[in-house]
Amino acid sequence: GTAARDGYPRPGGPADSPFIRACRRRPGPHTPVWFMRQAGRSLPEYREIRASVPMLESCRRPELVTEITLQPVRRHGVDAAILFSDIVVPVAAAGIDLDIVPGTGPVVAEPIRTAADVQRIRPITRDDVSYVDEAVRQLVVELGDTPLIGFAGAPFTLASYLVEGGPSRTHAKTKALMYGDEELWHALCGRLAEVTLAFLRVQIEAGVSAVQLFDSWAGALSEADYRRYVLPHSTAVLSGLVNAGVPRIHFGVGTGELLGAMGEAGADVVGVDWRTPLDVATGRIGADKAVQGNLDPCVLLAPWPVVEAEVRRILEQGRAAPGHVFNLGHGVLPETDPEVLTRVVALVHELSSRRADQ
Ligand code: CP3
Repeated sequence: GTAARDGYPRPGGPADSPFIRACRRRPGPHTPVWFMRQAGRSLPEYREIRASVPMLESCRRPELVTEITLQPVRRHGVDAAILFSDIVVPVAAAGIDLDIVPGTGPVVAEPIRTAADVQRIRPITRDDVSYVDEAVRQLVVELGDTPLIGFAGAPFTLASYLVEGGPSRTHAKTKALMYGDEELWHALCGRLAEVTLAFLRVQIEAGVSAVQLFDSWAGALSEADYRRYVLPHSTAVLSGLVNAGVPRIHFGVGTGELLGAMGEAGADVVGVDWRTPLDVATGRIGADKAVQGNLDPCVLLAPWPVVEAEVRRILEQGRAAPGHVFNLGHGVLPETDPEVLTRVVALVHELSSRRADQ
């Protein structure tokens, strides 16, 4: 946050940054930009660090978390850092045996299928994730005026990994449990909401300036099912942070039909993938929330004139929203040329810069 050690708020600081201003729907010097998965395999300096350290272990070493989180800020000049971690980190801290397998994603040793399984997910405290607390405190010092985004996985997306036992295209086992045993489903998601809320509170107390709740796979559901099975739990997380003093971003993929409901869950900013233009998205979300997005990550693999035209279009359509944070519609692909990311940051800043004399 902006409170200095003497307890007096510092003028400037992350709370006055273009990113936080846009989240709060306040005017700023330019449209802020950061990239989901900006810390990761597109960067050679990341691959070098990770060559000898497994993913989960790297998330538990504060000095590595700090270094990897800072890499894209140094290289690209993005307007925000995102904590290097993973959505399954708090679930592992809650006692679930899992690993992140290179090229696959999270794999759970004993998938959650019964009420007894749900009881294996223990509530967490700061002590269970002290490495995250420590990394955030270091990062806030290192980042100065650049805001740090904390994050967590939303109950549905976490439940999908836990019930399937790993990544899934159809989420069939997850939906079978959801439709087949509604009571067990709500018990599971209720427990995951508690873990997620506790994890985000640790990050906020340590000093993150904003949080993003990733419900990456919520787009697998109809709006009616989303409202019945998912919205109450995501609302428990986001509304639990209403007085935490930091903007809340709520993101999913393929969620064009869910944008209104995802905003209702208690978000200040709704993330939009590339399928829905930002002006259309704003119509669904309403004028009381900012939007974040929404360049197709695959466009970054195209020749520069194509990238430039898409950035222009998105900035133009983003003007319909009361606040716009430029981002991709999903994470940076590992094969992305990092030079292109740097050029996109410069282009967004140049095209959107608002000088006082204009
Ligand atoms: O965005 C950032 O730069 C911060 C770091 C971050 C990671 N995972 C690091 C990571 C964030 C925000 C996440 C969130 C996450 N993890 C989500 C939600 C966002 C999304 O992409 O939809 C999900 C669904 C996961 C689960 C997960 N973890 C997947 C699907 C994978 C990729 C599997 C693969 O190897 O392709 C992971 C592993 C993971 N998380 C990596 C990184 C940098 C790759 C690990 C490696 O370098 O080998």
